[in-house]
Amino acid sequence: MPCIGCGREAKTEPPDFRCPSCGDLLELVATGRKPDRRSLLRQKAAFGVWRYAKGLPFGRDVEPISLQEGGTPLVKSASIGKELGLHELYIKNEGQNPTGSFKDRGMTVAVTRASQRGAKTLICASTGNTSASLAAYSARGGLKAVVIVPSGKVAAGKLVQATVHGARILRMKGNFDEALELVMGAVRKNPALYLMNSINPYRIEGQKTLAYEVFEQLGGRVPDYVVLPVGNAGNISAIWKGFLELKSWRISDSLPRMVGVQAAQAAPIAEAYEKGRDYVKPWGDAKTVASAIRIGKPVSWKKALRAIRDSGGFSTTVTDREILEARGQLALKEGLFVEAASATPIAALKRIRRVAKPRSTIVCVTTGNGLKDQESVKVDLGEAPELAGGQDLLRALA
Ligand code: F0G
Repeated sequence: MPCIGCGREAKTEPPDFRCPSCGDLLELVATGRKPDRRSLLRQKAAFGVWRYAKGLPFGRDVEPISLQEGGTPLVKSASIGKELGLHELYIKNEGQNPTGSFKDRGMTVAVTRASQRGAKTLICASTGNTSASLAAYSARGGLKAVVIVPSGKVAAGKLVQATVHGARILRMKGNFDEALELVMGAVRKNPALYLMNSINPYRIEGQKTLAYEVFEQLGGRVPDYVVLPVGNAGNISAIWKGFLELKSWRISDSLPRMVGVQAAQAAPIAEAYEKGRDYVKPWGDAKTVASAIRIGKPVSWKKALRAIRDSGGFSTTVTDREILEARGQLALKEGLFVEAASATPIAALKRIRRVAKPRSTIVCVTTGNGLKDQESVKVDLGEAPELAGGQDLLRALA
């Protein structure tokens, strides 16, 4: 595992997945025979993460702890694209994963690895989805899960998931960034705890399969733009890695521009991009209705800035109002119910239209299902008329 900062190889797996020499992040790099189109994109295996086993860091005899994650639909936009004059707009709907978010892609790989290593107790800090996913995969693998969440800042549906799957939930006064620091400190001190946040490079390996999948779903084409929400910045790094690999293995011959979207009041990466900085200044009080990406100190900022700059993409912000409007548009015009964070790419489309060529292929990644994040939707069933028994329905509808 080479370090992304100093390049030194970590010979063993450090408990916090940080470089023992300089403290930067570690990355997994494929060794051995490079996959080719036929070995990577096997036609017989079911669509999903493990279809791409040849691109994952395991030997042949791996037994995945899997819920058949990945293989999510790439839906062509029915009307939002046309209204904006974007004729090749697709929505990669990650909310259709087993626990309702893209986290499942990384979790199947990282839990499989943890189990191989003999880990017993898996731990993460979370804004909600990671905890739900970790809980489910730990249950599946017969492992214990501990999740630390910022008190009062996680959508109730996600905590319900972590609870039913039997995770030990600890709430913490403070924000996600503080919760993650707490977890990092704990894994350094106690080797019995295995870290499952996206600093764990096995998570990134699973999440990168979205790139392979989109490539296949577009009939062997790389999109011009991939647009996604950015919080702790693991996913944008992962998807970029997937596209880089396809190109370096000569399976594809181009790369997409990566567009990282943040909420206006939780935007350390967008700020660094806009100010042309090569470092990210943490935001102490990140705020947004999109609780999944309420993150002020993104741990994978360096990888994310590289993905954005090396790809010729950009990072931008959208306001909470634009996020909720975009979620409404997805629900009303496309039939897709996504969580607030996942609507940020749609909210950013107007900005993308200014720079994209009209025939560009744009893929927006909707990262999580709306069913778990209902607090931000104002639903008042009291407003729906109540029919008395025996009342004439046709007259009520008139
Ligand atoms: N979208 C959703 C629905 C998320 O849950 C997250 C992150 C992101 C986007 C951002 O992804 O962190 O890789 O940049 N959720 C994490 C969690 C932090 O704990 O569930 P990222």
